[in-house]
Amino acid sequence: MNIAEAPAQPQITRLDDYRAPDYLIDTVSLEFELDASETRVTSKLKMRRNPEGQGGPCILNGEYLTLVSIALDGKTLTGNEYQRTTDTLLLPQVPASFELEIVTLIHPDQNTALEGLYHSGAILCTQCEAEGFRRITYYPDRPDVMAVFTVTLIADAKKWPMLLANGNRQASGEMEDGRHWVRWHDPHPKPSYLFALVAGDLYCQQDQFTTMSGRQVLLEIYVDPENHNKCDHALNSLKQAMRWDEDVYGREYDLDVFMIVAVNDFNMGAMENKGLNIFNAACVLASPETATDADFYTIQSIVGHEYFHNWSGNRVTCRDWFQLSLKEGFTVLRDQQFSADMNSAAVQRIDDVDQLRSMQFAEDAGPMAHPVRPDSYIEISNFYTVTIYEKGAEVVGMLKTLTGPEGFRKGTDLYFSRHDGQAVTTDDFVKAIEDANQLDLTQFKRWYTQAGTPVLIVEAHYDADKQVLELTLRQSCPATPGQPEKQPFVIPVAMGLLSSSGASLPLQLDTETSAVDAETRVLTLTEQSQTFRFIHLTEEPVVSVLRGFSAPVKVKFERDNETLAFLMAHDRDSFNRWDAGQQLLIQIMLRMVEQYQSDKTLDLPEILLDRLQHVLDDQSIDPALVARMLSLPSENYLAAQMTIADVDAIHAVRKYVKQQIAQRLKAGFNTRYQALNQAQVYEFNASQMAQRSLKNVCLGYLMATGDPMQTQRCLKQMKQADNMTDLLAGLRLMVDQPGPEREHALRAFYEQWQHDRQVVDKWLTVQAVSDLPDALFRVKALLKHPAFSMKNPNNVRALIGQFCRNNPVHFHAKDGSGYRFLAEQILLLDKLNPQVAARQLGAFNSWRRYDAERQALMKKSLSDIAGAQDLSADVYEIVNKYLAD
Ligand code: PHE
Ligand code: ZN
Repeated sequence: MNIAEAPAQPQITRLDDYRAPDYLIDTVSLEFELDASETRVTSKLKMRRNPEGQGGPCILNGEYLTLVSIALDGKTLTGNEYQRTTDTLLLPQVPASFELEIVTLIHPDQNTALEGLYHSGAILCTQCEAEGFRRITYYPDRPDVMAVFTVTLIADAKKWPMLLANGNRQASGEMEDGRHWVRWHDPHPKPSYLFALVAGDLYCQQDQFTTMSGRQVLLEIYVDPENHNKCDHALNSLKQAMRWDEDVYGREYDLDVFMIVAVNDFNMGAMENKGLNIFNAACVLASPETATDADFYTIQSIVGHEYFHNWSGNRVTCRDWFQLSLKEGFTVLRDQQFSADMNSAAVQRIDDVDQLRSMQFAEDAGPMAHPVRPDSYIEISNFYTVTIYEKGAEVVGMLKTLTGPEGFRKGTDLYFSRHDGQAVTTDDFVKAIEDANQLDLTQFKRWYTQAGTPVLIVEAHYDADKQVLELTLRQSCPATPGQPEKQPFVIPVAMGLLSSSGASLPLQLDTETSAVDAETRVLTLTEQSQTFRFIHLTEEPVVSVLRGFSAPVKVKFERDNETLAFLMAHDRDSFNRWDAGQQLLIQIMLRMVEQYQSDKTLDLPEILLDRLQHVLDDQSIDPALVARMLSLPSENYLAAQMTIADVDAIHAVRKYVKQQIAQRLKAGFNTRYQALNQAQVYEFNASQMAQRSLKNVCLGYLMATGDPMQTQRCLKQMKQADNMTDLLAGLRLMVDQPGPEREHALRAFYEQWQHDRQVVDKWLTVQAVSDLPDALFRVKALLKHPAFSMKNPNNVRALIGQFCRNNPVHFHAKDGSGYRFLAEQILLLDKLNPQVAARQLGAFNSWRRYDAERQALMKKSLSDIAGAQDLSADVYEIVNKYLAD
């Protein structure tokens, strides 16, 4: 036996090196003798040589394991019959089929990385995606090895009365020493990353669901007893999701029980382990008093997301981790559709695109840019990105646009039936869509292999004599790391034409004999440049392009303020109405930034105020859309539109614009605020959410007038609020105002809610994103507050993450204090939890887009991180990609 040194430099894994596994596993039997300080794992694997493999030795993955024993076909192996490194166990000689029995010891309470088996509060739980199972036992820890699992959990009956694992409960019993045991069997073969167990003393809320074929499924949510009144919303969301997946995708649930467990310490949002979803408590627990509308909304979508993985991810899984978007992109699309159907489709689309443009476009333009199907990685945990998830969803959404809803459904039906029980690739997914629709998607697949956000350049030319509109669409895509040149994409461009009165005009191309019977049609751009000629147009039309954001591209289309204002009022597509308003705001604000930089007076065009006034007064528009149309683009998004981002100018301009709008539209804000501020019993539904969102946008503007009466109004709202949405909206506004009321509001809020982790995280965040000059000082002080723990990812994200990402003026302080702060915290975090540490590096993503002094300071902080001893592979990969030329 030899234990080799860990590789000096983290290794690169490449898609091109993919090989089928040499050994397959039919059944796994696991026995856990659970204990927080030392858990003993006995694993029995029925293995056989893979006929499609290369016939190599049998290699198992394993990390941080104490090996107790290993036996092959009942015979204990001695140290020279196998070889170990820090992360593998190799058996040179094995028969064609054999049984392995491996006993290992693991230490959950020393596990701060929250991968493998760990301790969260009084709960023992696991997180195995992507490569956490190898921290539990030696195993071929790769998703293309699928096996049937039987799991026996043994633990102290008093400490851990609930013992949960995947599948159906098979048997249980008491032992003489005060321990008890439960055996679970999951009949569906699955990869190791979907394995889970939970042990705890938990409150369980139950419900029932009858599937489309009439089977009864038991639904259970397990939470810490103090959260017993926060389960209803998740349970309702789960039932909605189960019905929706039957109705929309024809997918039925396949076990007798579906369980959700809430834990306080979790690296991500939630995990789709077969039959036993484990959730970050913040993504499942909700009551009107403690959760905002946004929280309720997110919970519904995440519960849906994890449930939908049962088919898109579990029944059909990924061959290797380069295929991650196969399950994540598709499942995000599914959860977005679900949320749209449960709430407002227009609002859902606006919020999705807003997130994509502000986060994913930045990633795609930065040093970590990667394709939806990457071709190499150092640490796979770094690739759970907005590109894999959100851009991946857009790519699948384009397939839906190109095939139509029915064609798409035929495609997904074929995909699920063809590949049920298999581990497949994004190519297999596209092939199923192709085969079901007799399409050739070869060129389309560039969306999976080329990184970067394409630019769509639009030019329109109207010829009055010929009554023809020539619409020229061109595309280009900037270089990204490792990809200097790009081939043209297939870009579906949904568009329409409007008359000067806002009516839809006929859409007939010169190659067609009649106009299409629709106000929107999809033009498909496949070349670098194409011109479409629309005929029989008796007046010059206003062109509306990329309706519903039909492709994840940046549009370059020169339009004056008047045209954008017109579209904002008249576009037939609500997404484009909102988008026209945002483009108008961006255009105007970027001009003002230039004025600010050259000390000119800031000029806010009348047309904008006029348009916003109309929007505010228009009772026929959904208040949720009004709220979004009245919301200014974020400082980060404005910064991303500049060649050299000027944080201070952007901050000043945005504040000025907000004040100006507030002054001018004060009467309107006042009227609408009063009309919307009606007492009603809190319900989670689109109409109440819409009302609250507009009400609080109005309050934000009213506070921006600086009128002390509005502060009183804000305090009154906080005092009367019976829900967290209204309370937190008030607190956020108070915190941006200096003075005793601010301190008082913060103190009172904490005193009232200090027992509630989710609410305390909100309290940390409002201070982290505060506008006041002492923001960093406060954040540093809060690191020492009893409510904060560096070991809790939610705390870290709420305080450090929010400060660095959503407080640009302070994070980018000229003296570099924000950068030094982040670098220090990352190095501390990396020792505890590499995944969370690496994620915080994202705040440096756009560092090359700032002025020379700030670049130098950020480079210094990044180099300090890169130069530290014993970096995790997670931080190593990102920091070095950021620093690479
Ligand atoms: N697979 C999870 C999801 O998107 C995310 C996740 C990844 C959770 C890795 C934990 C660890 O639904
Ligand atoms: Zn997912």
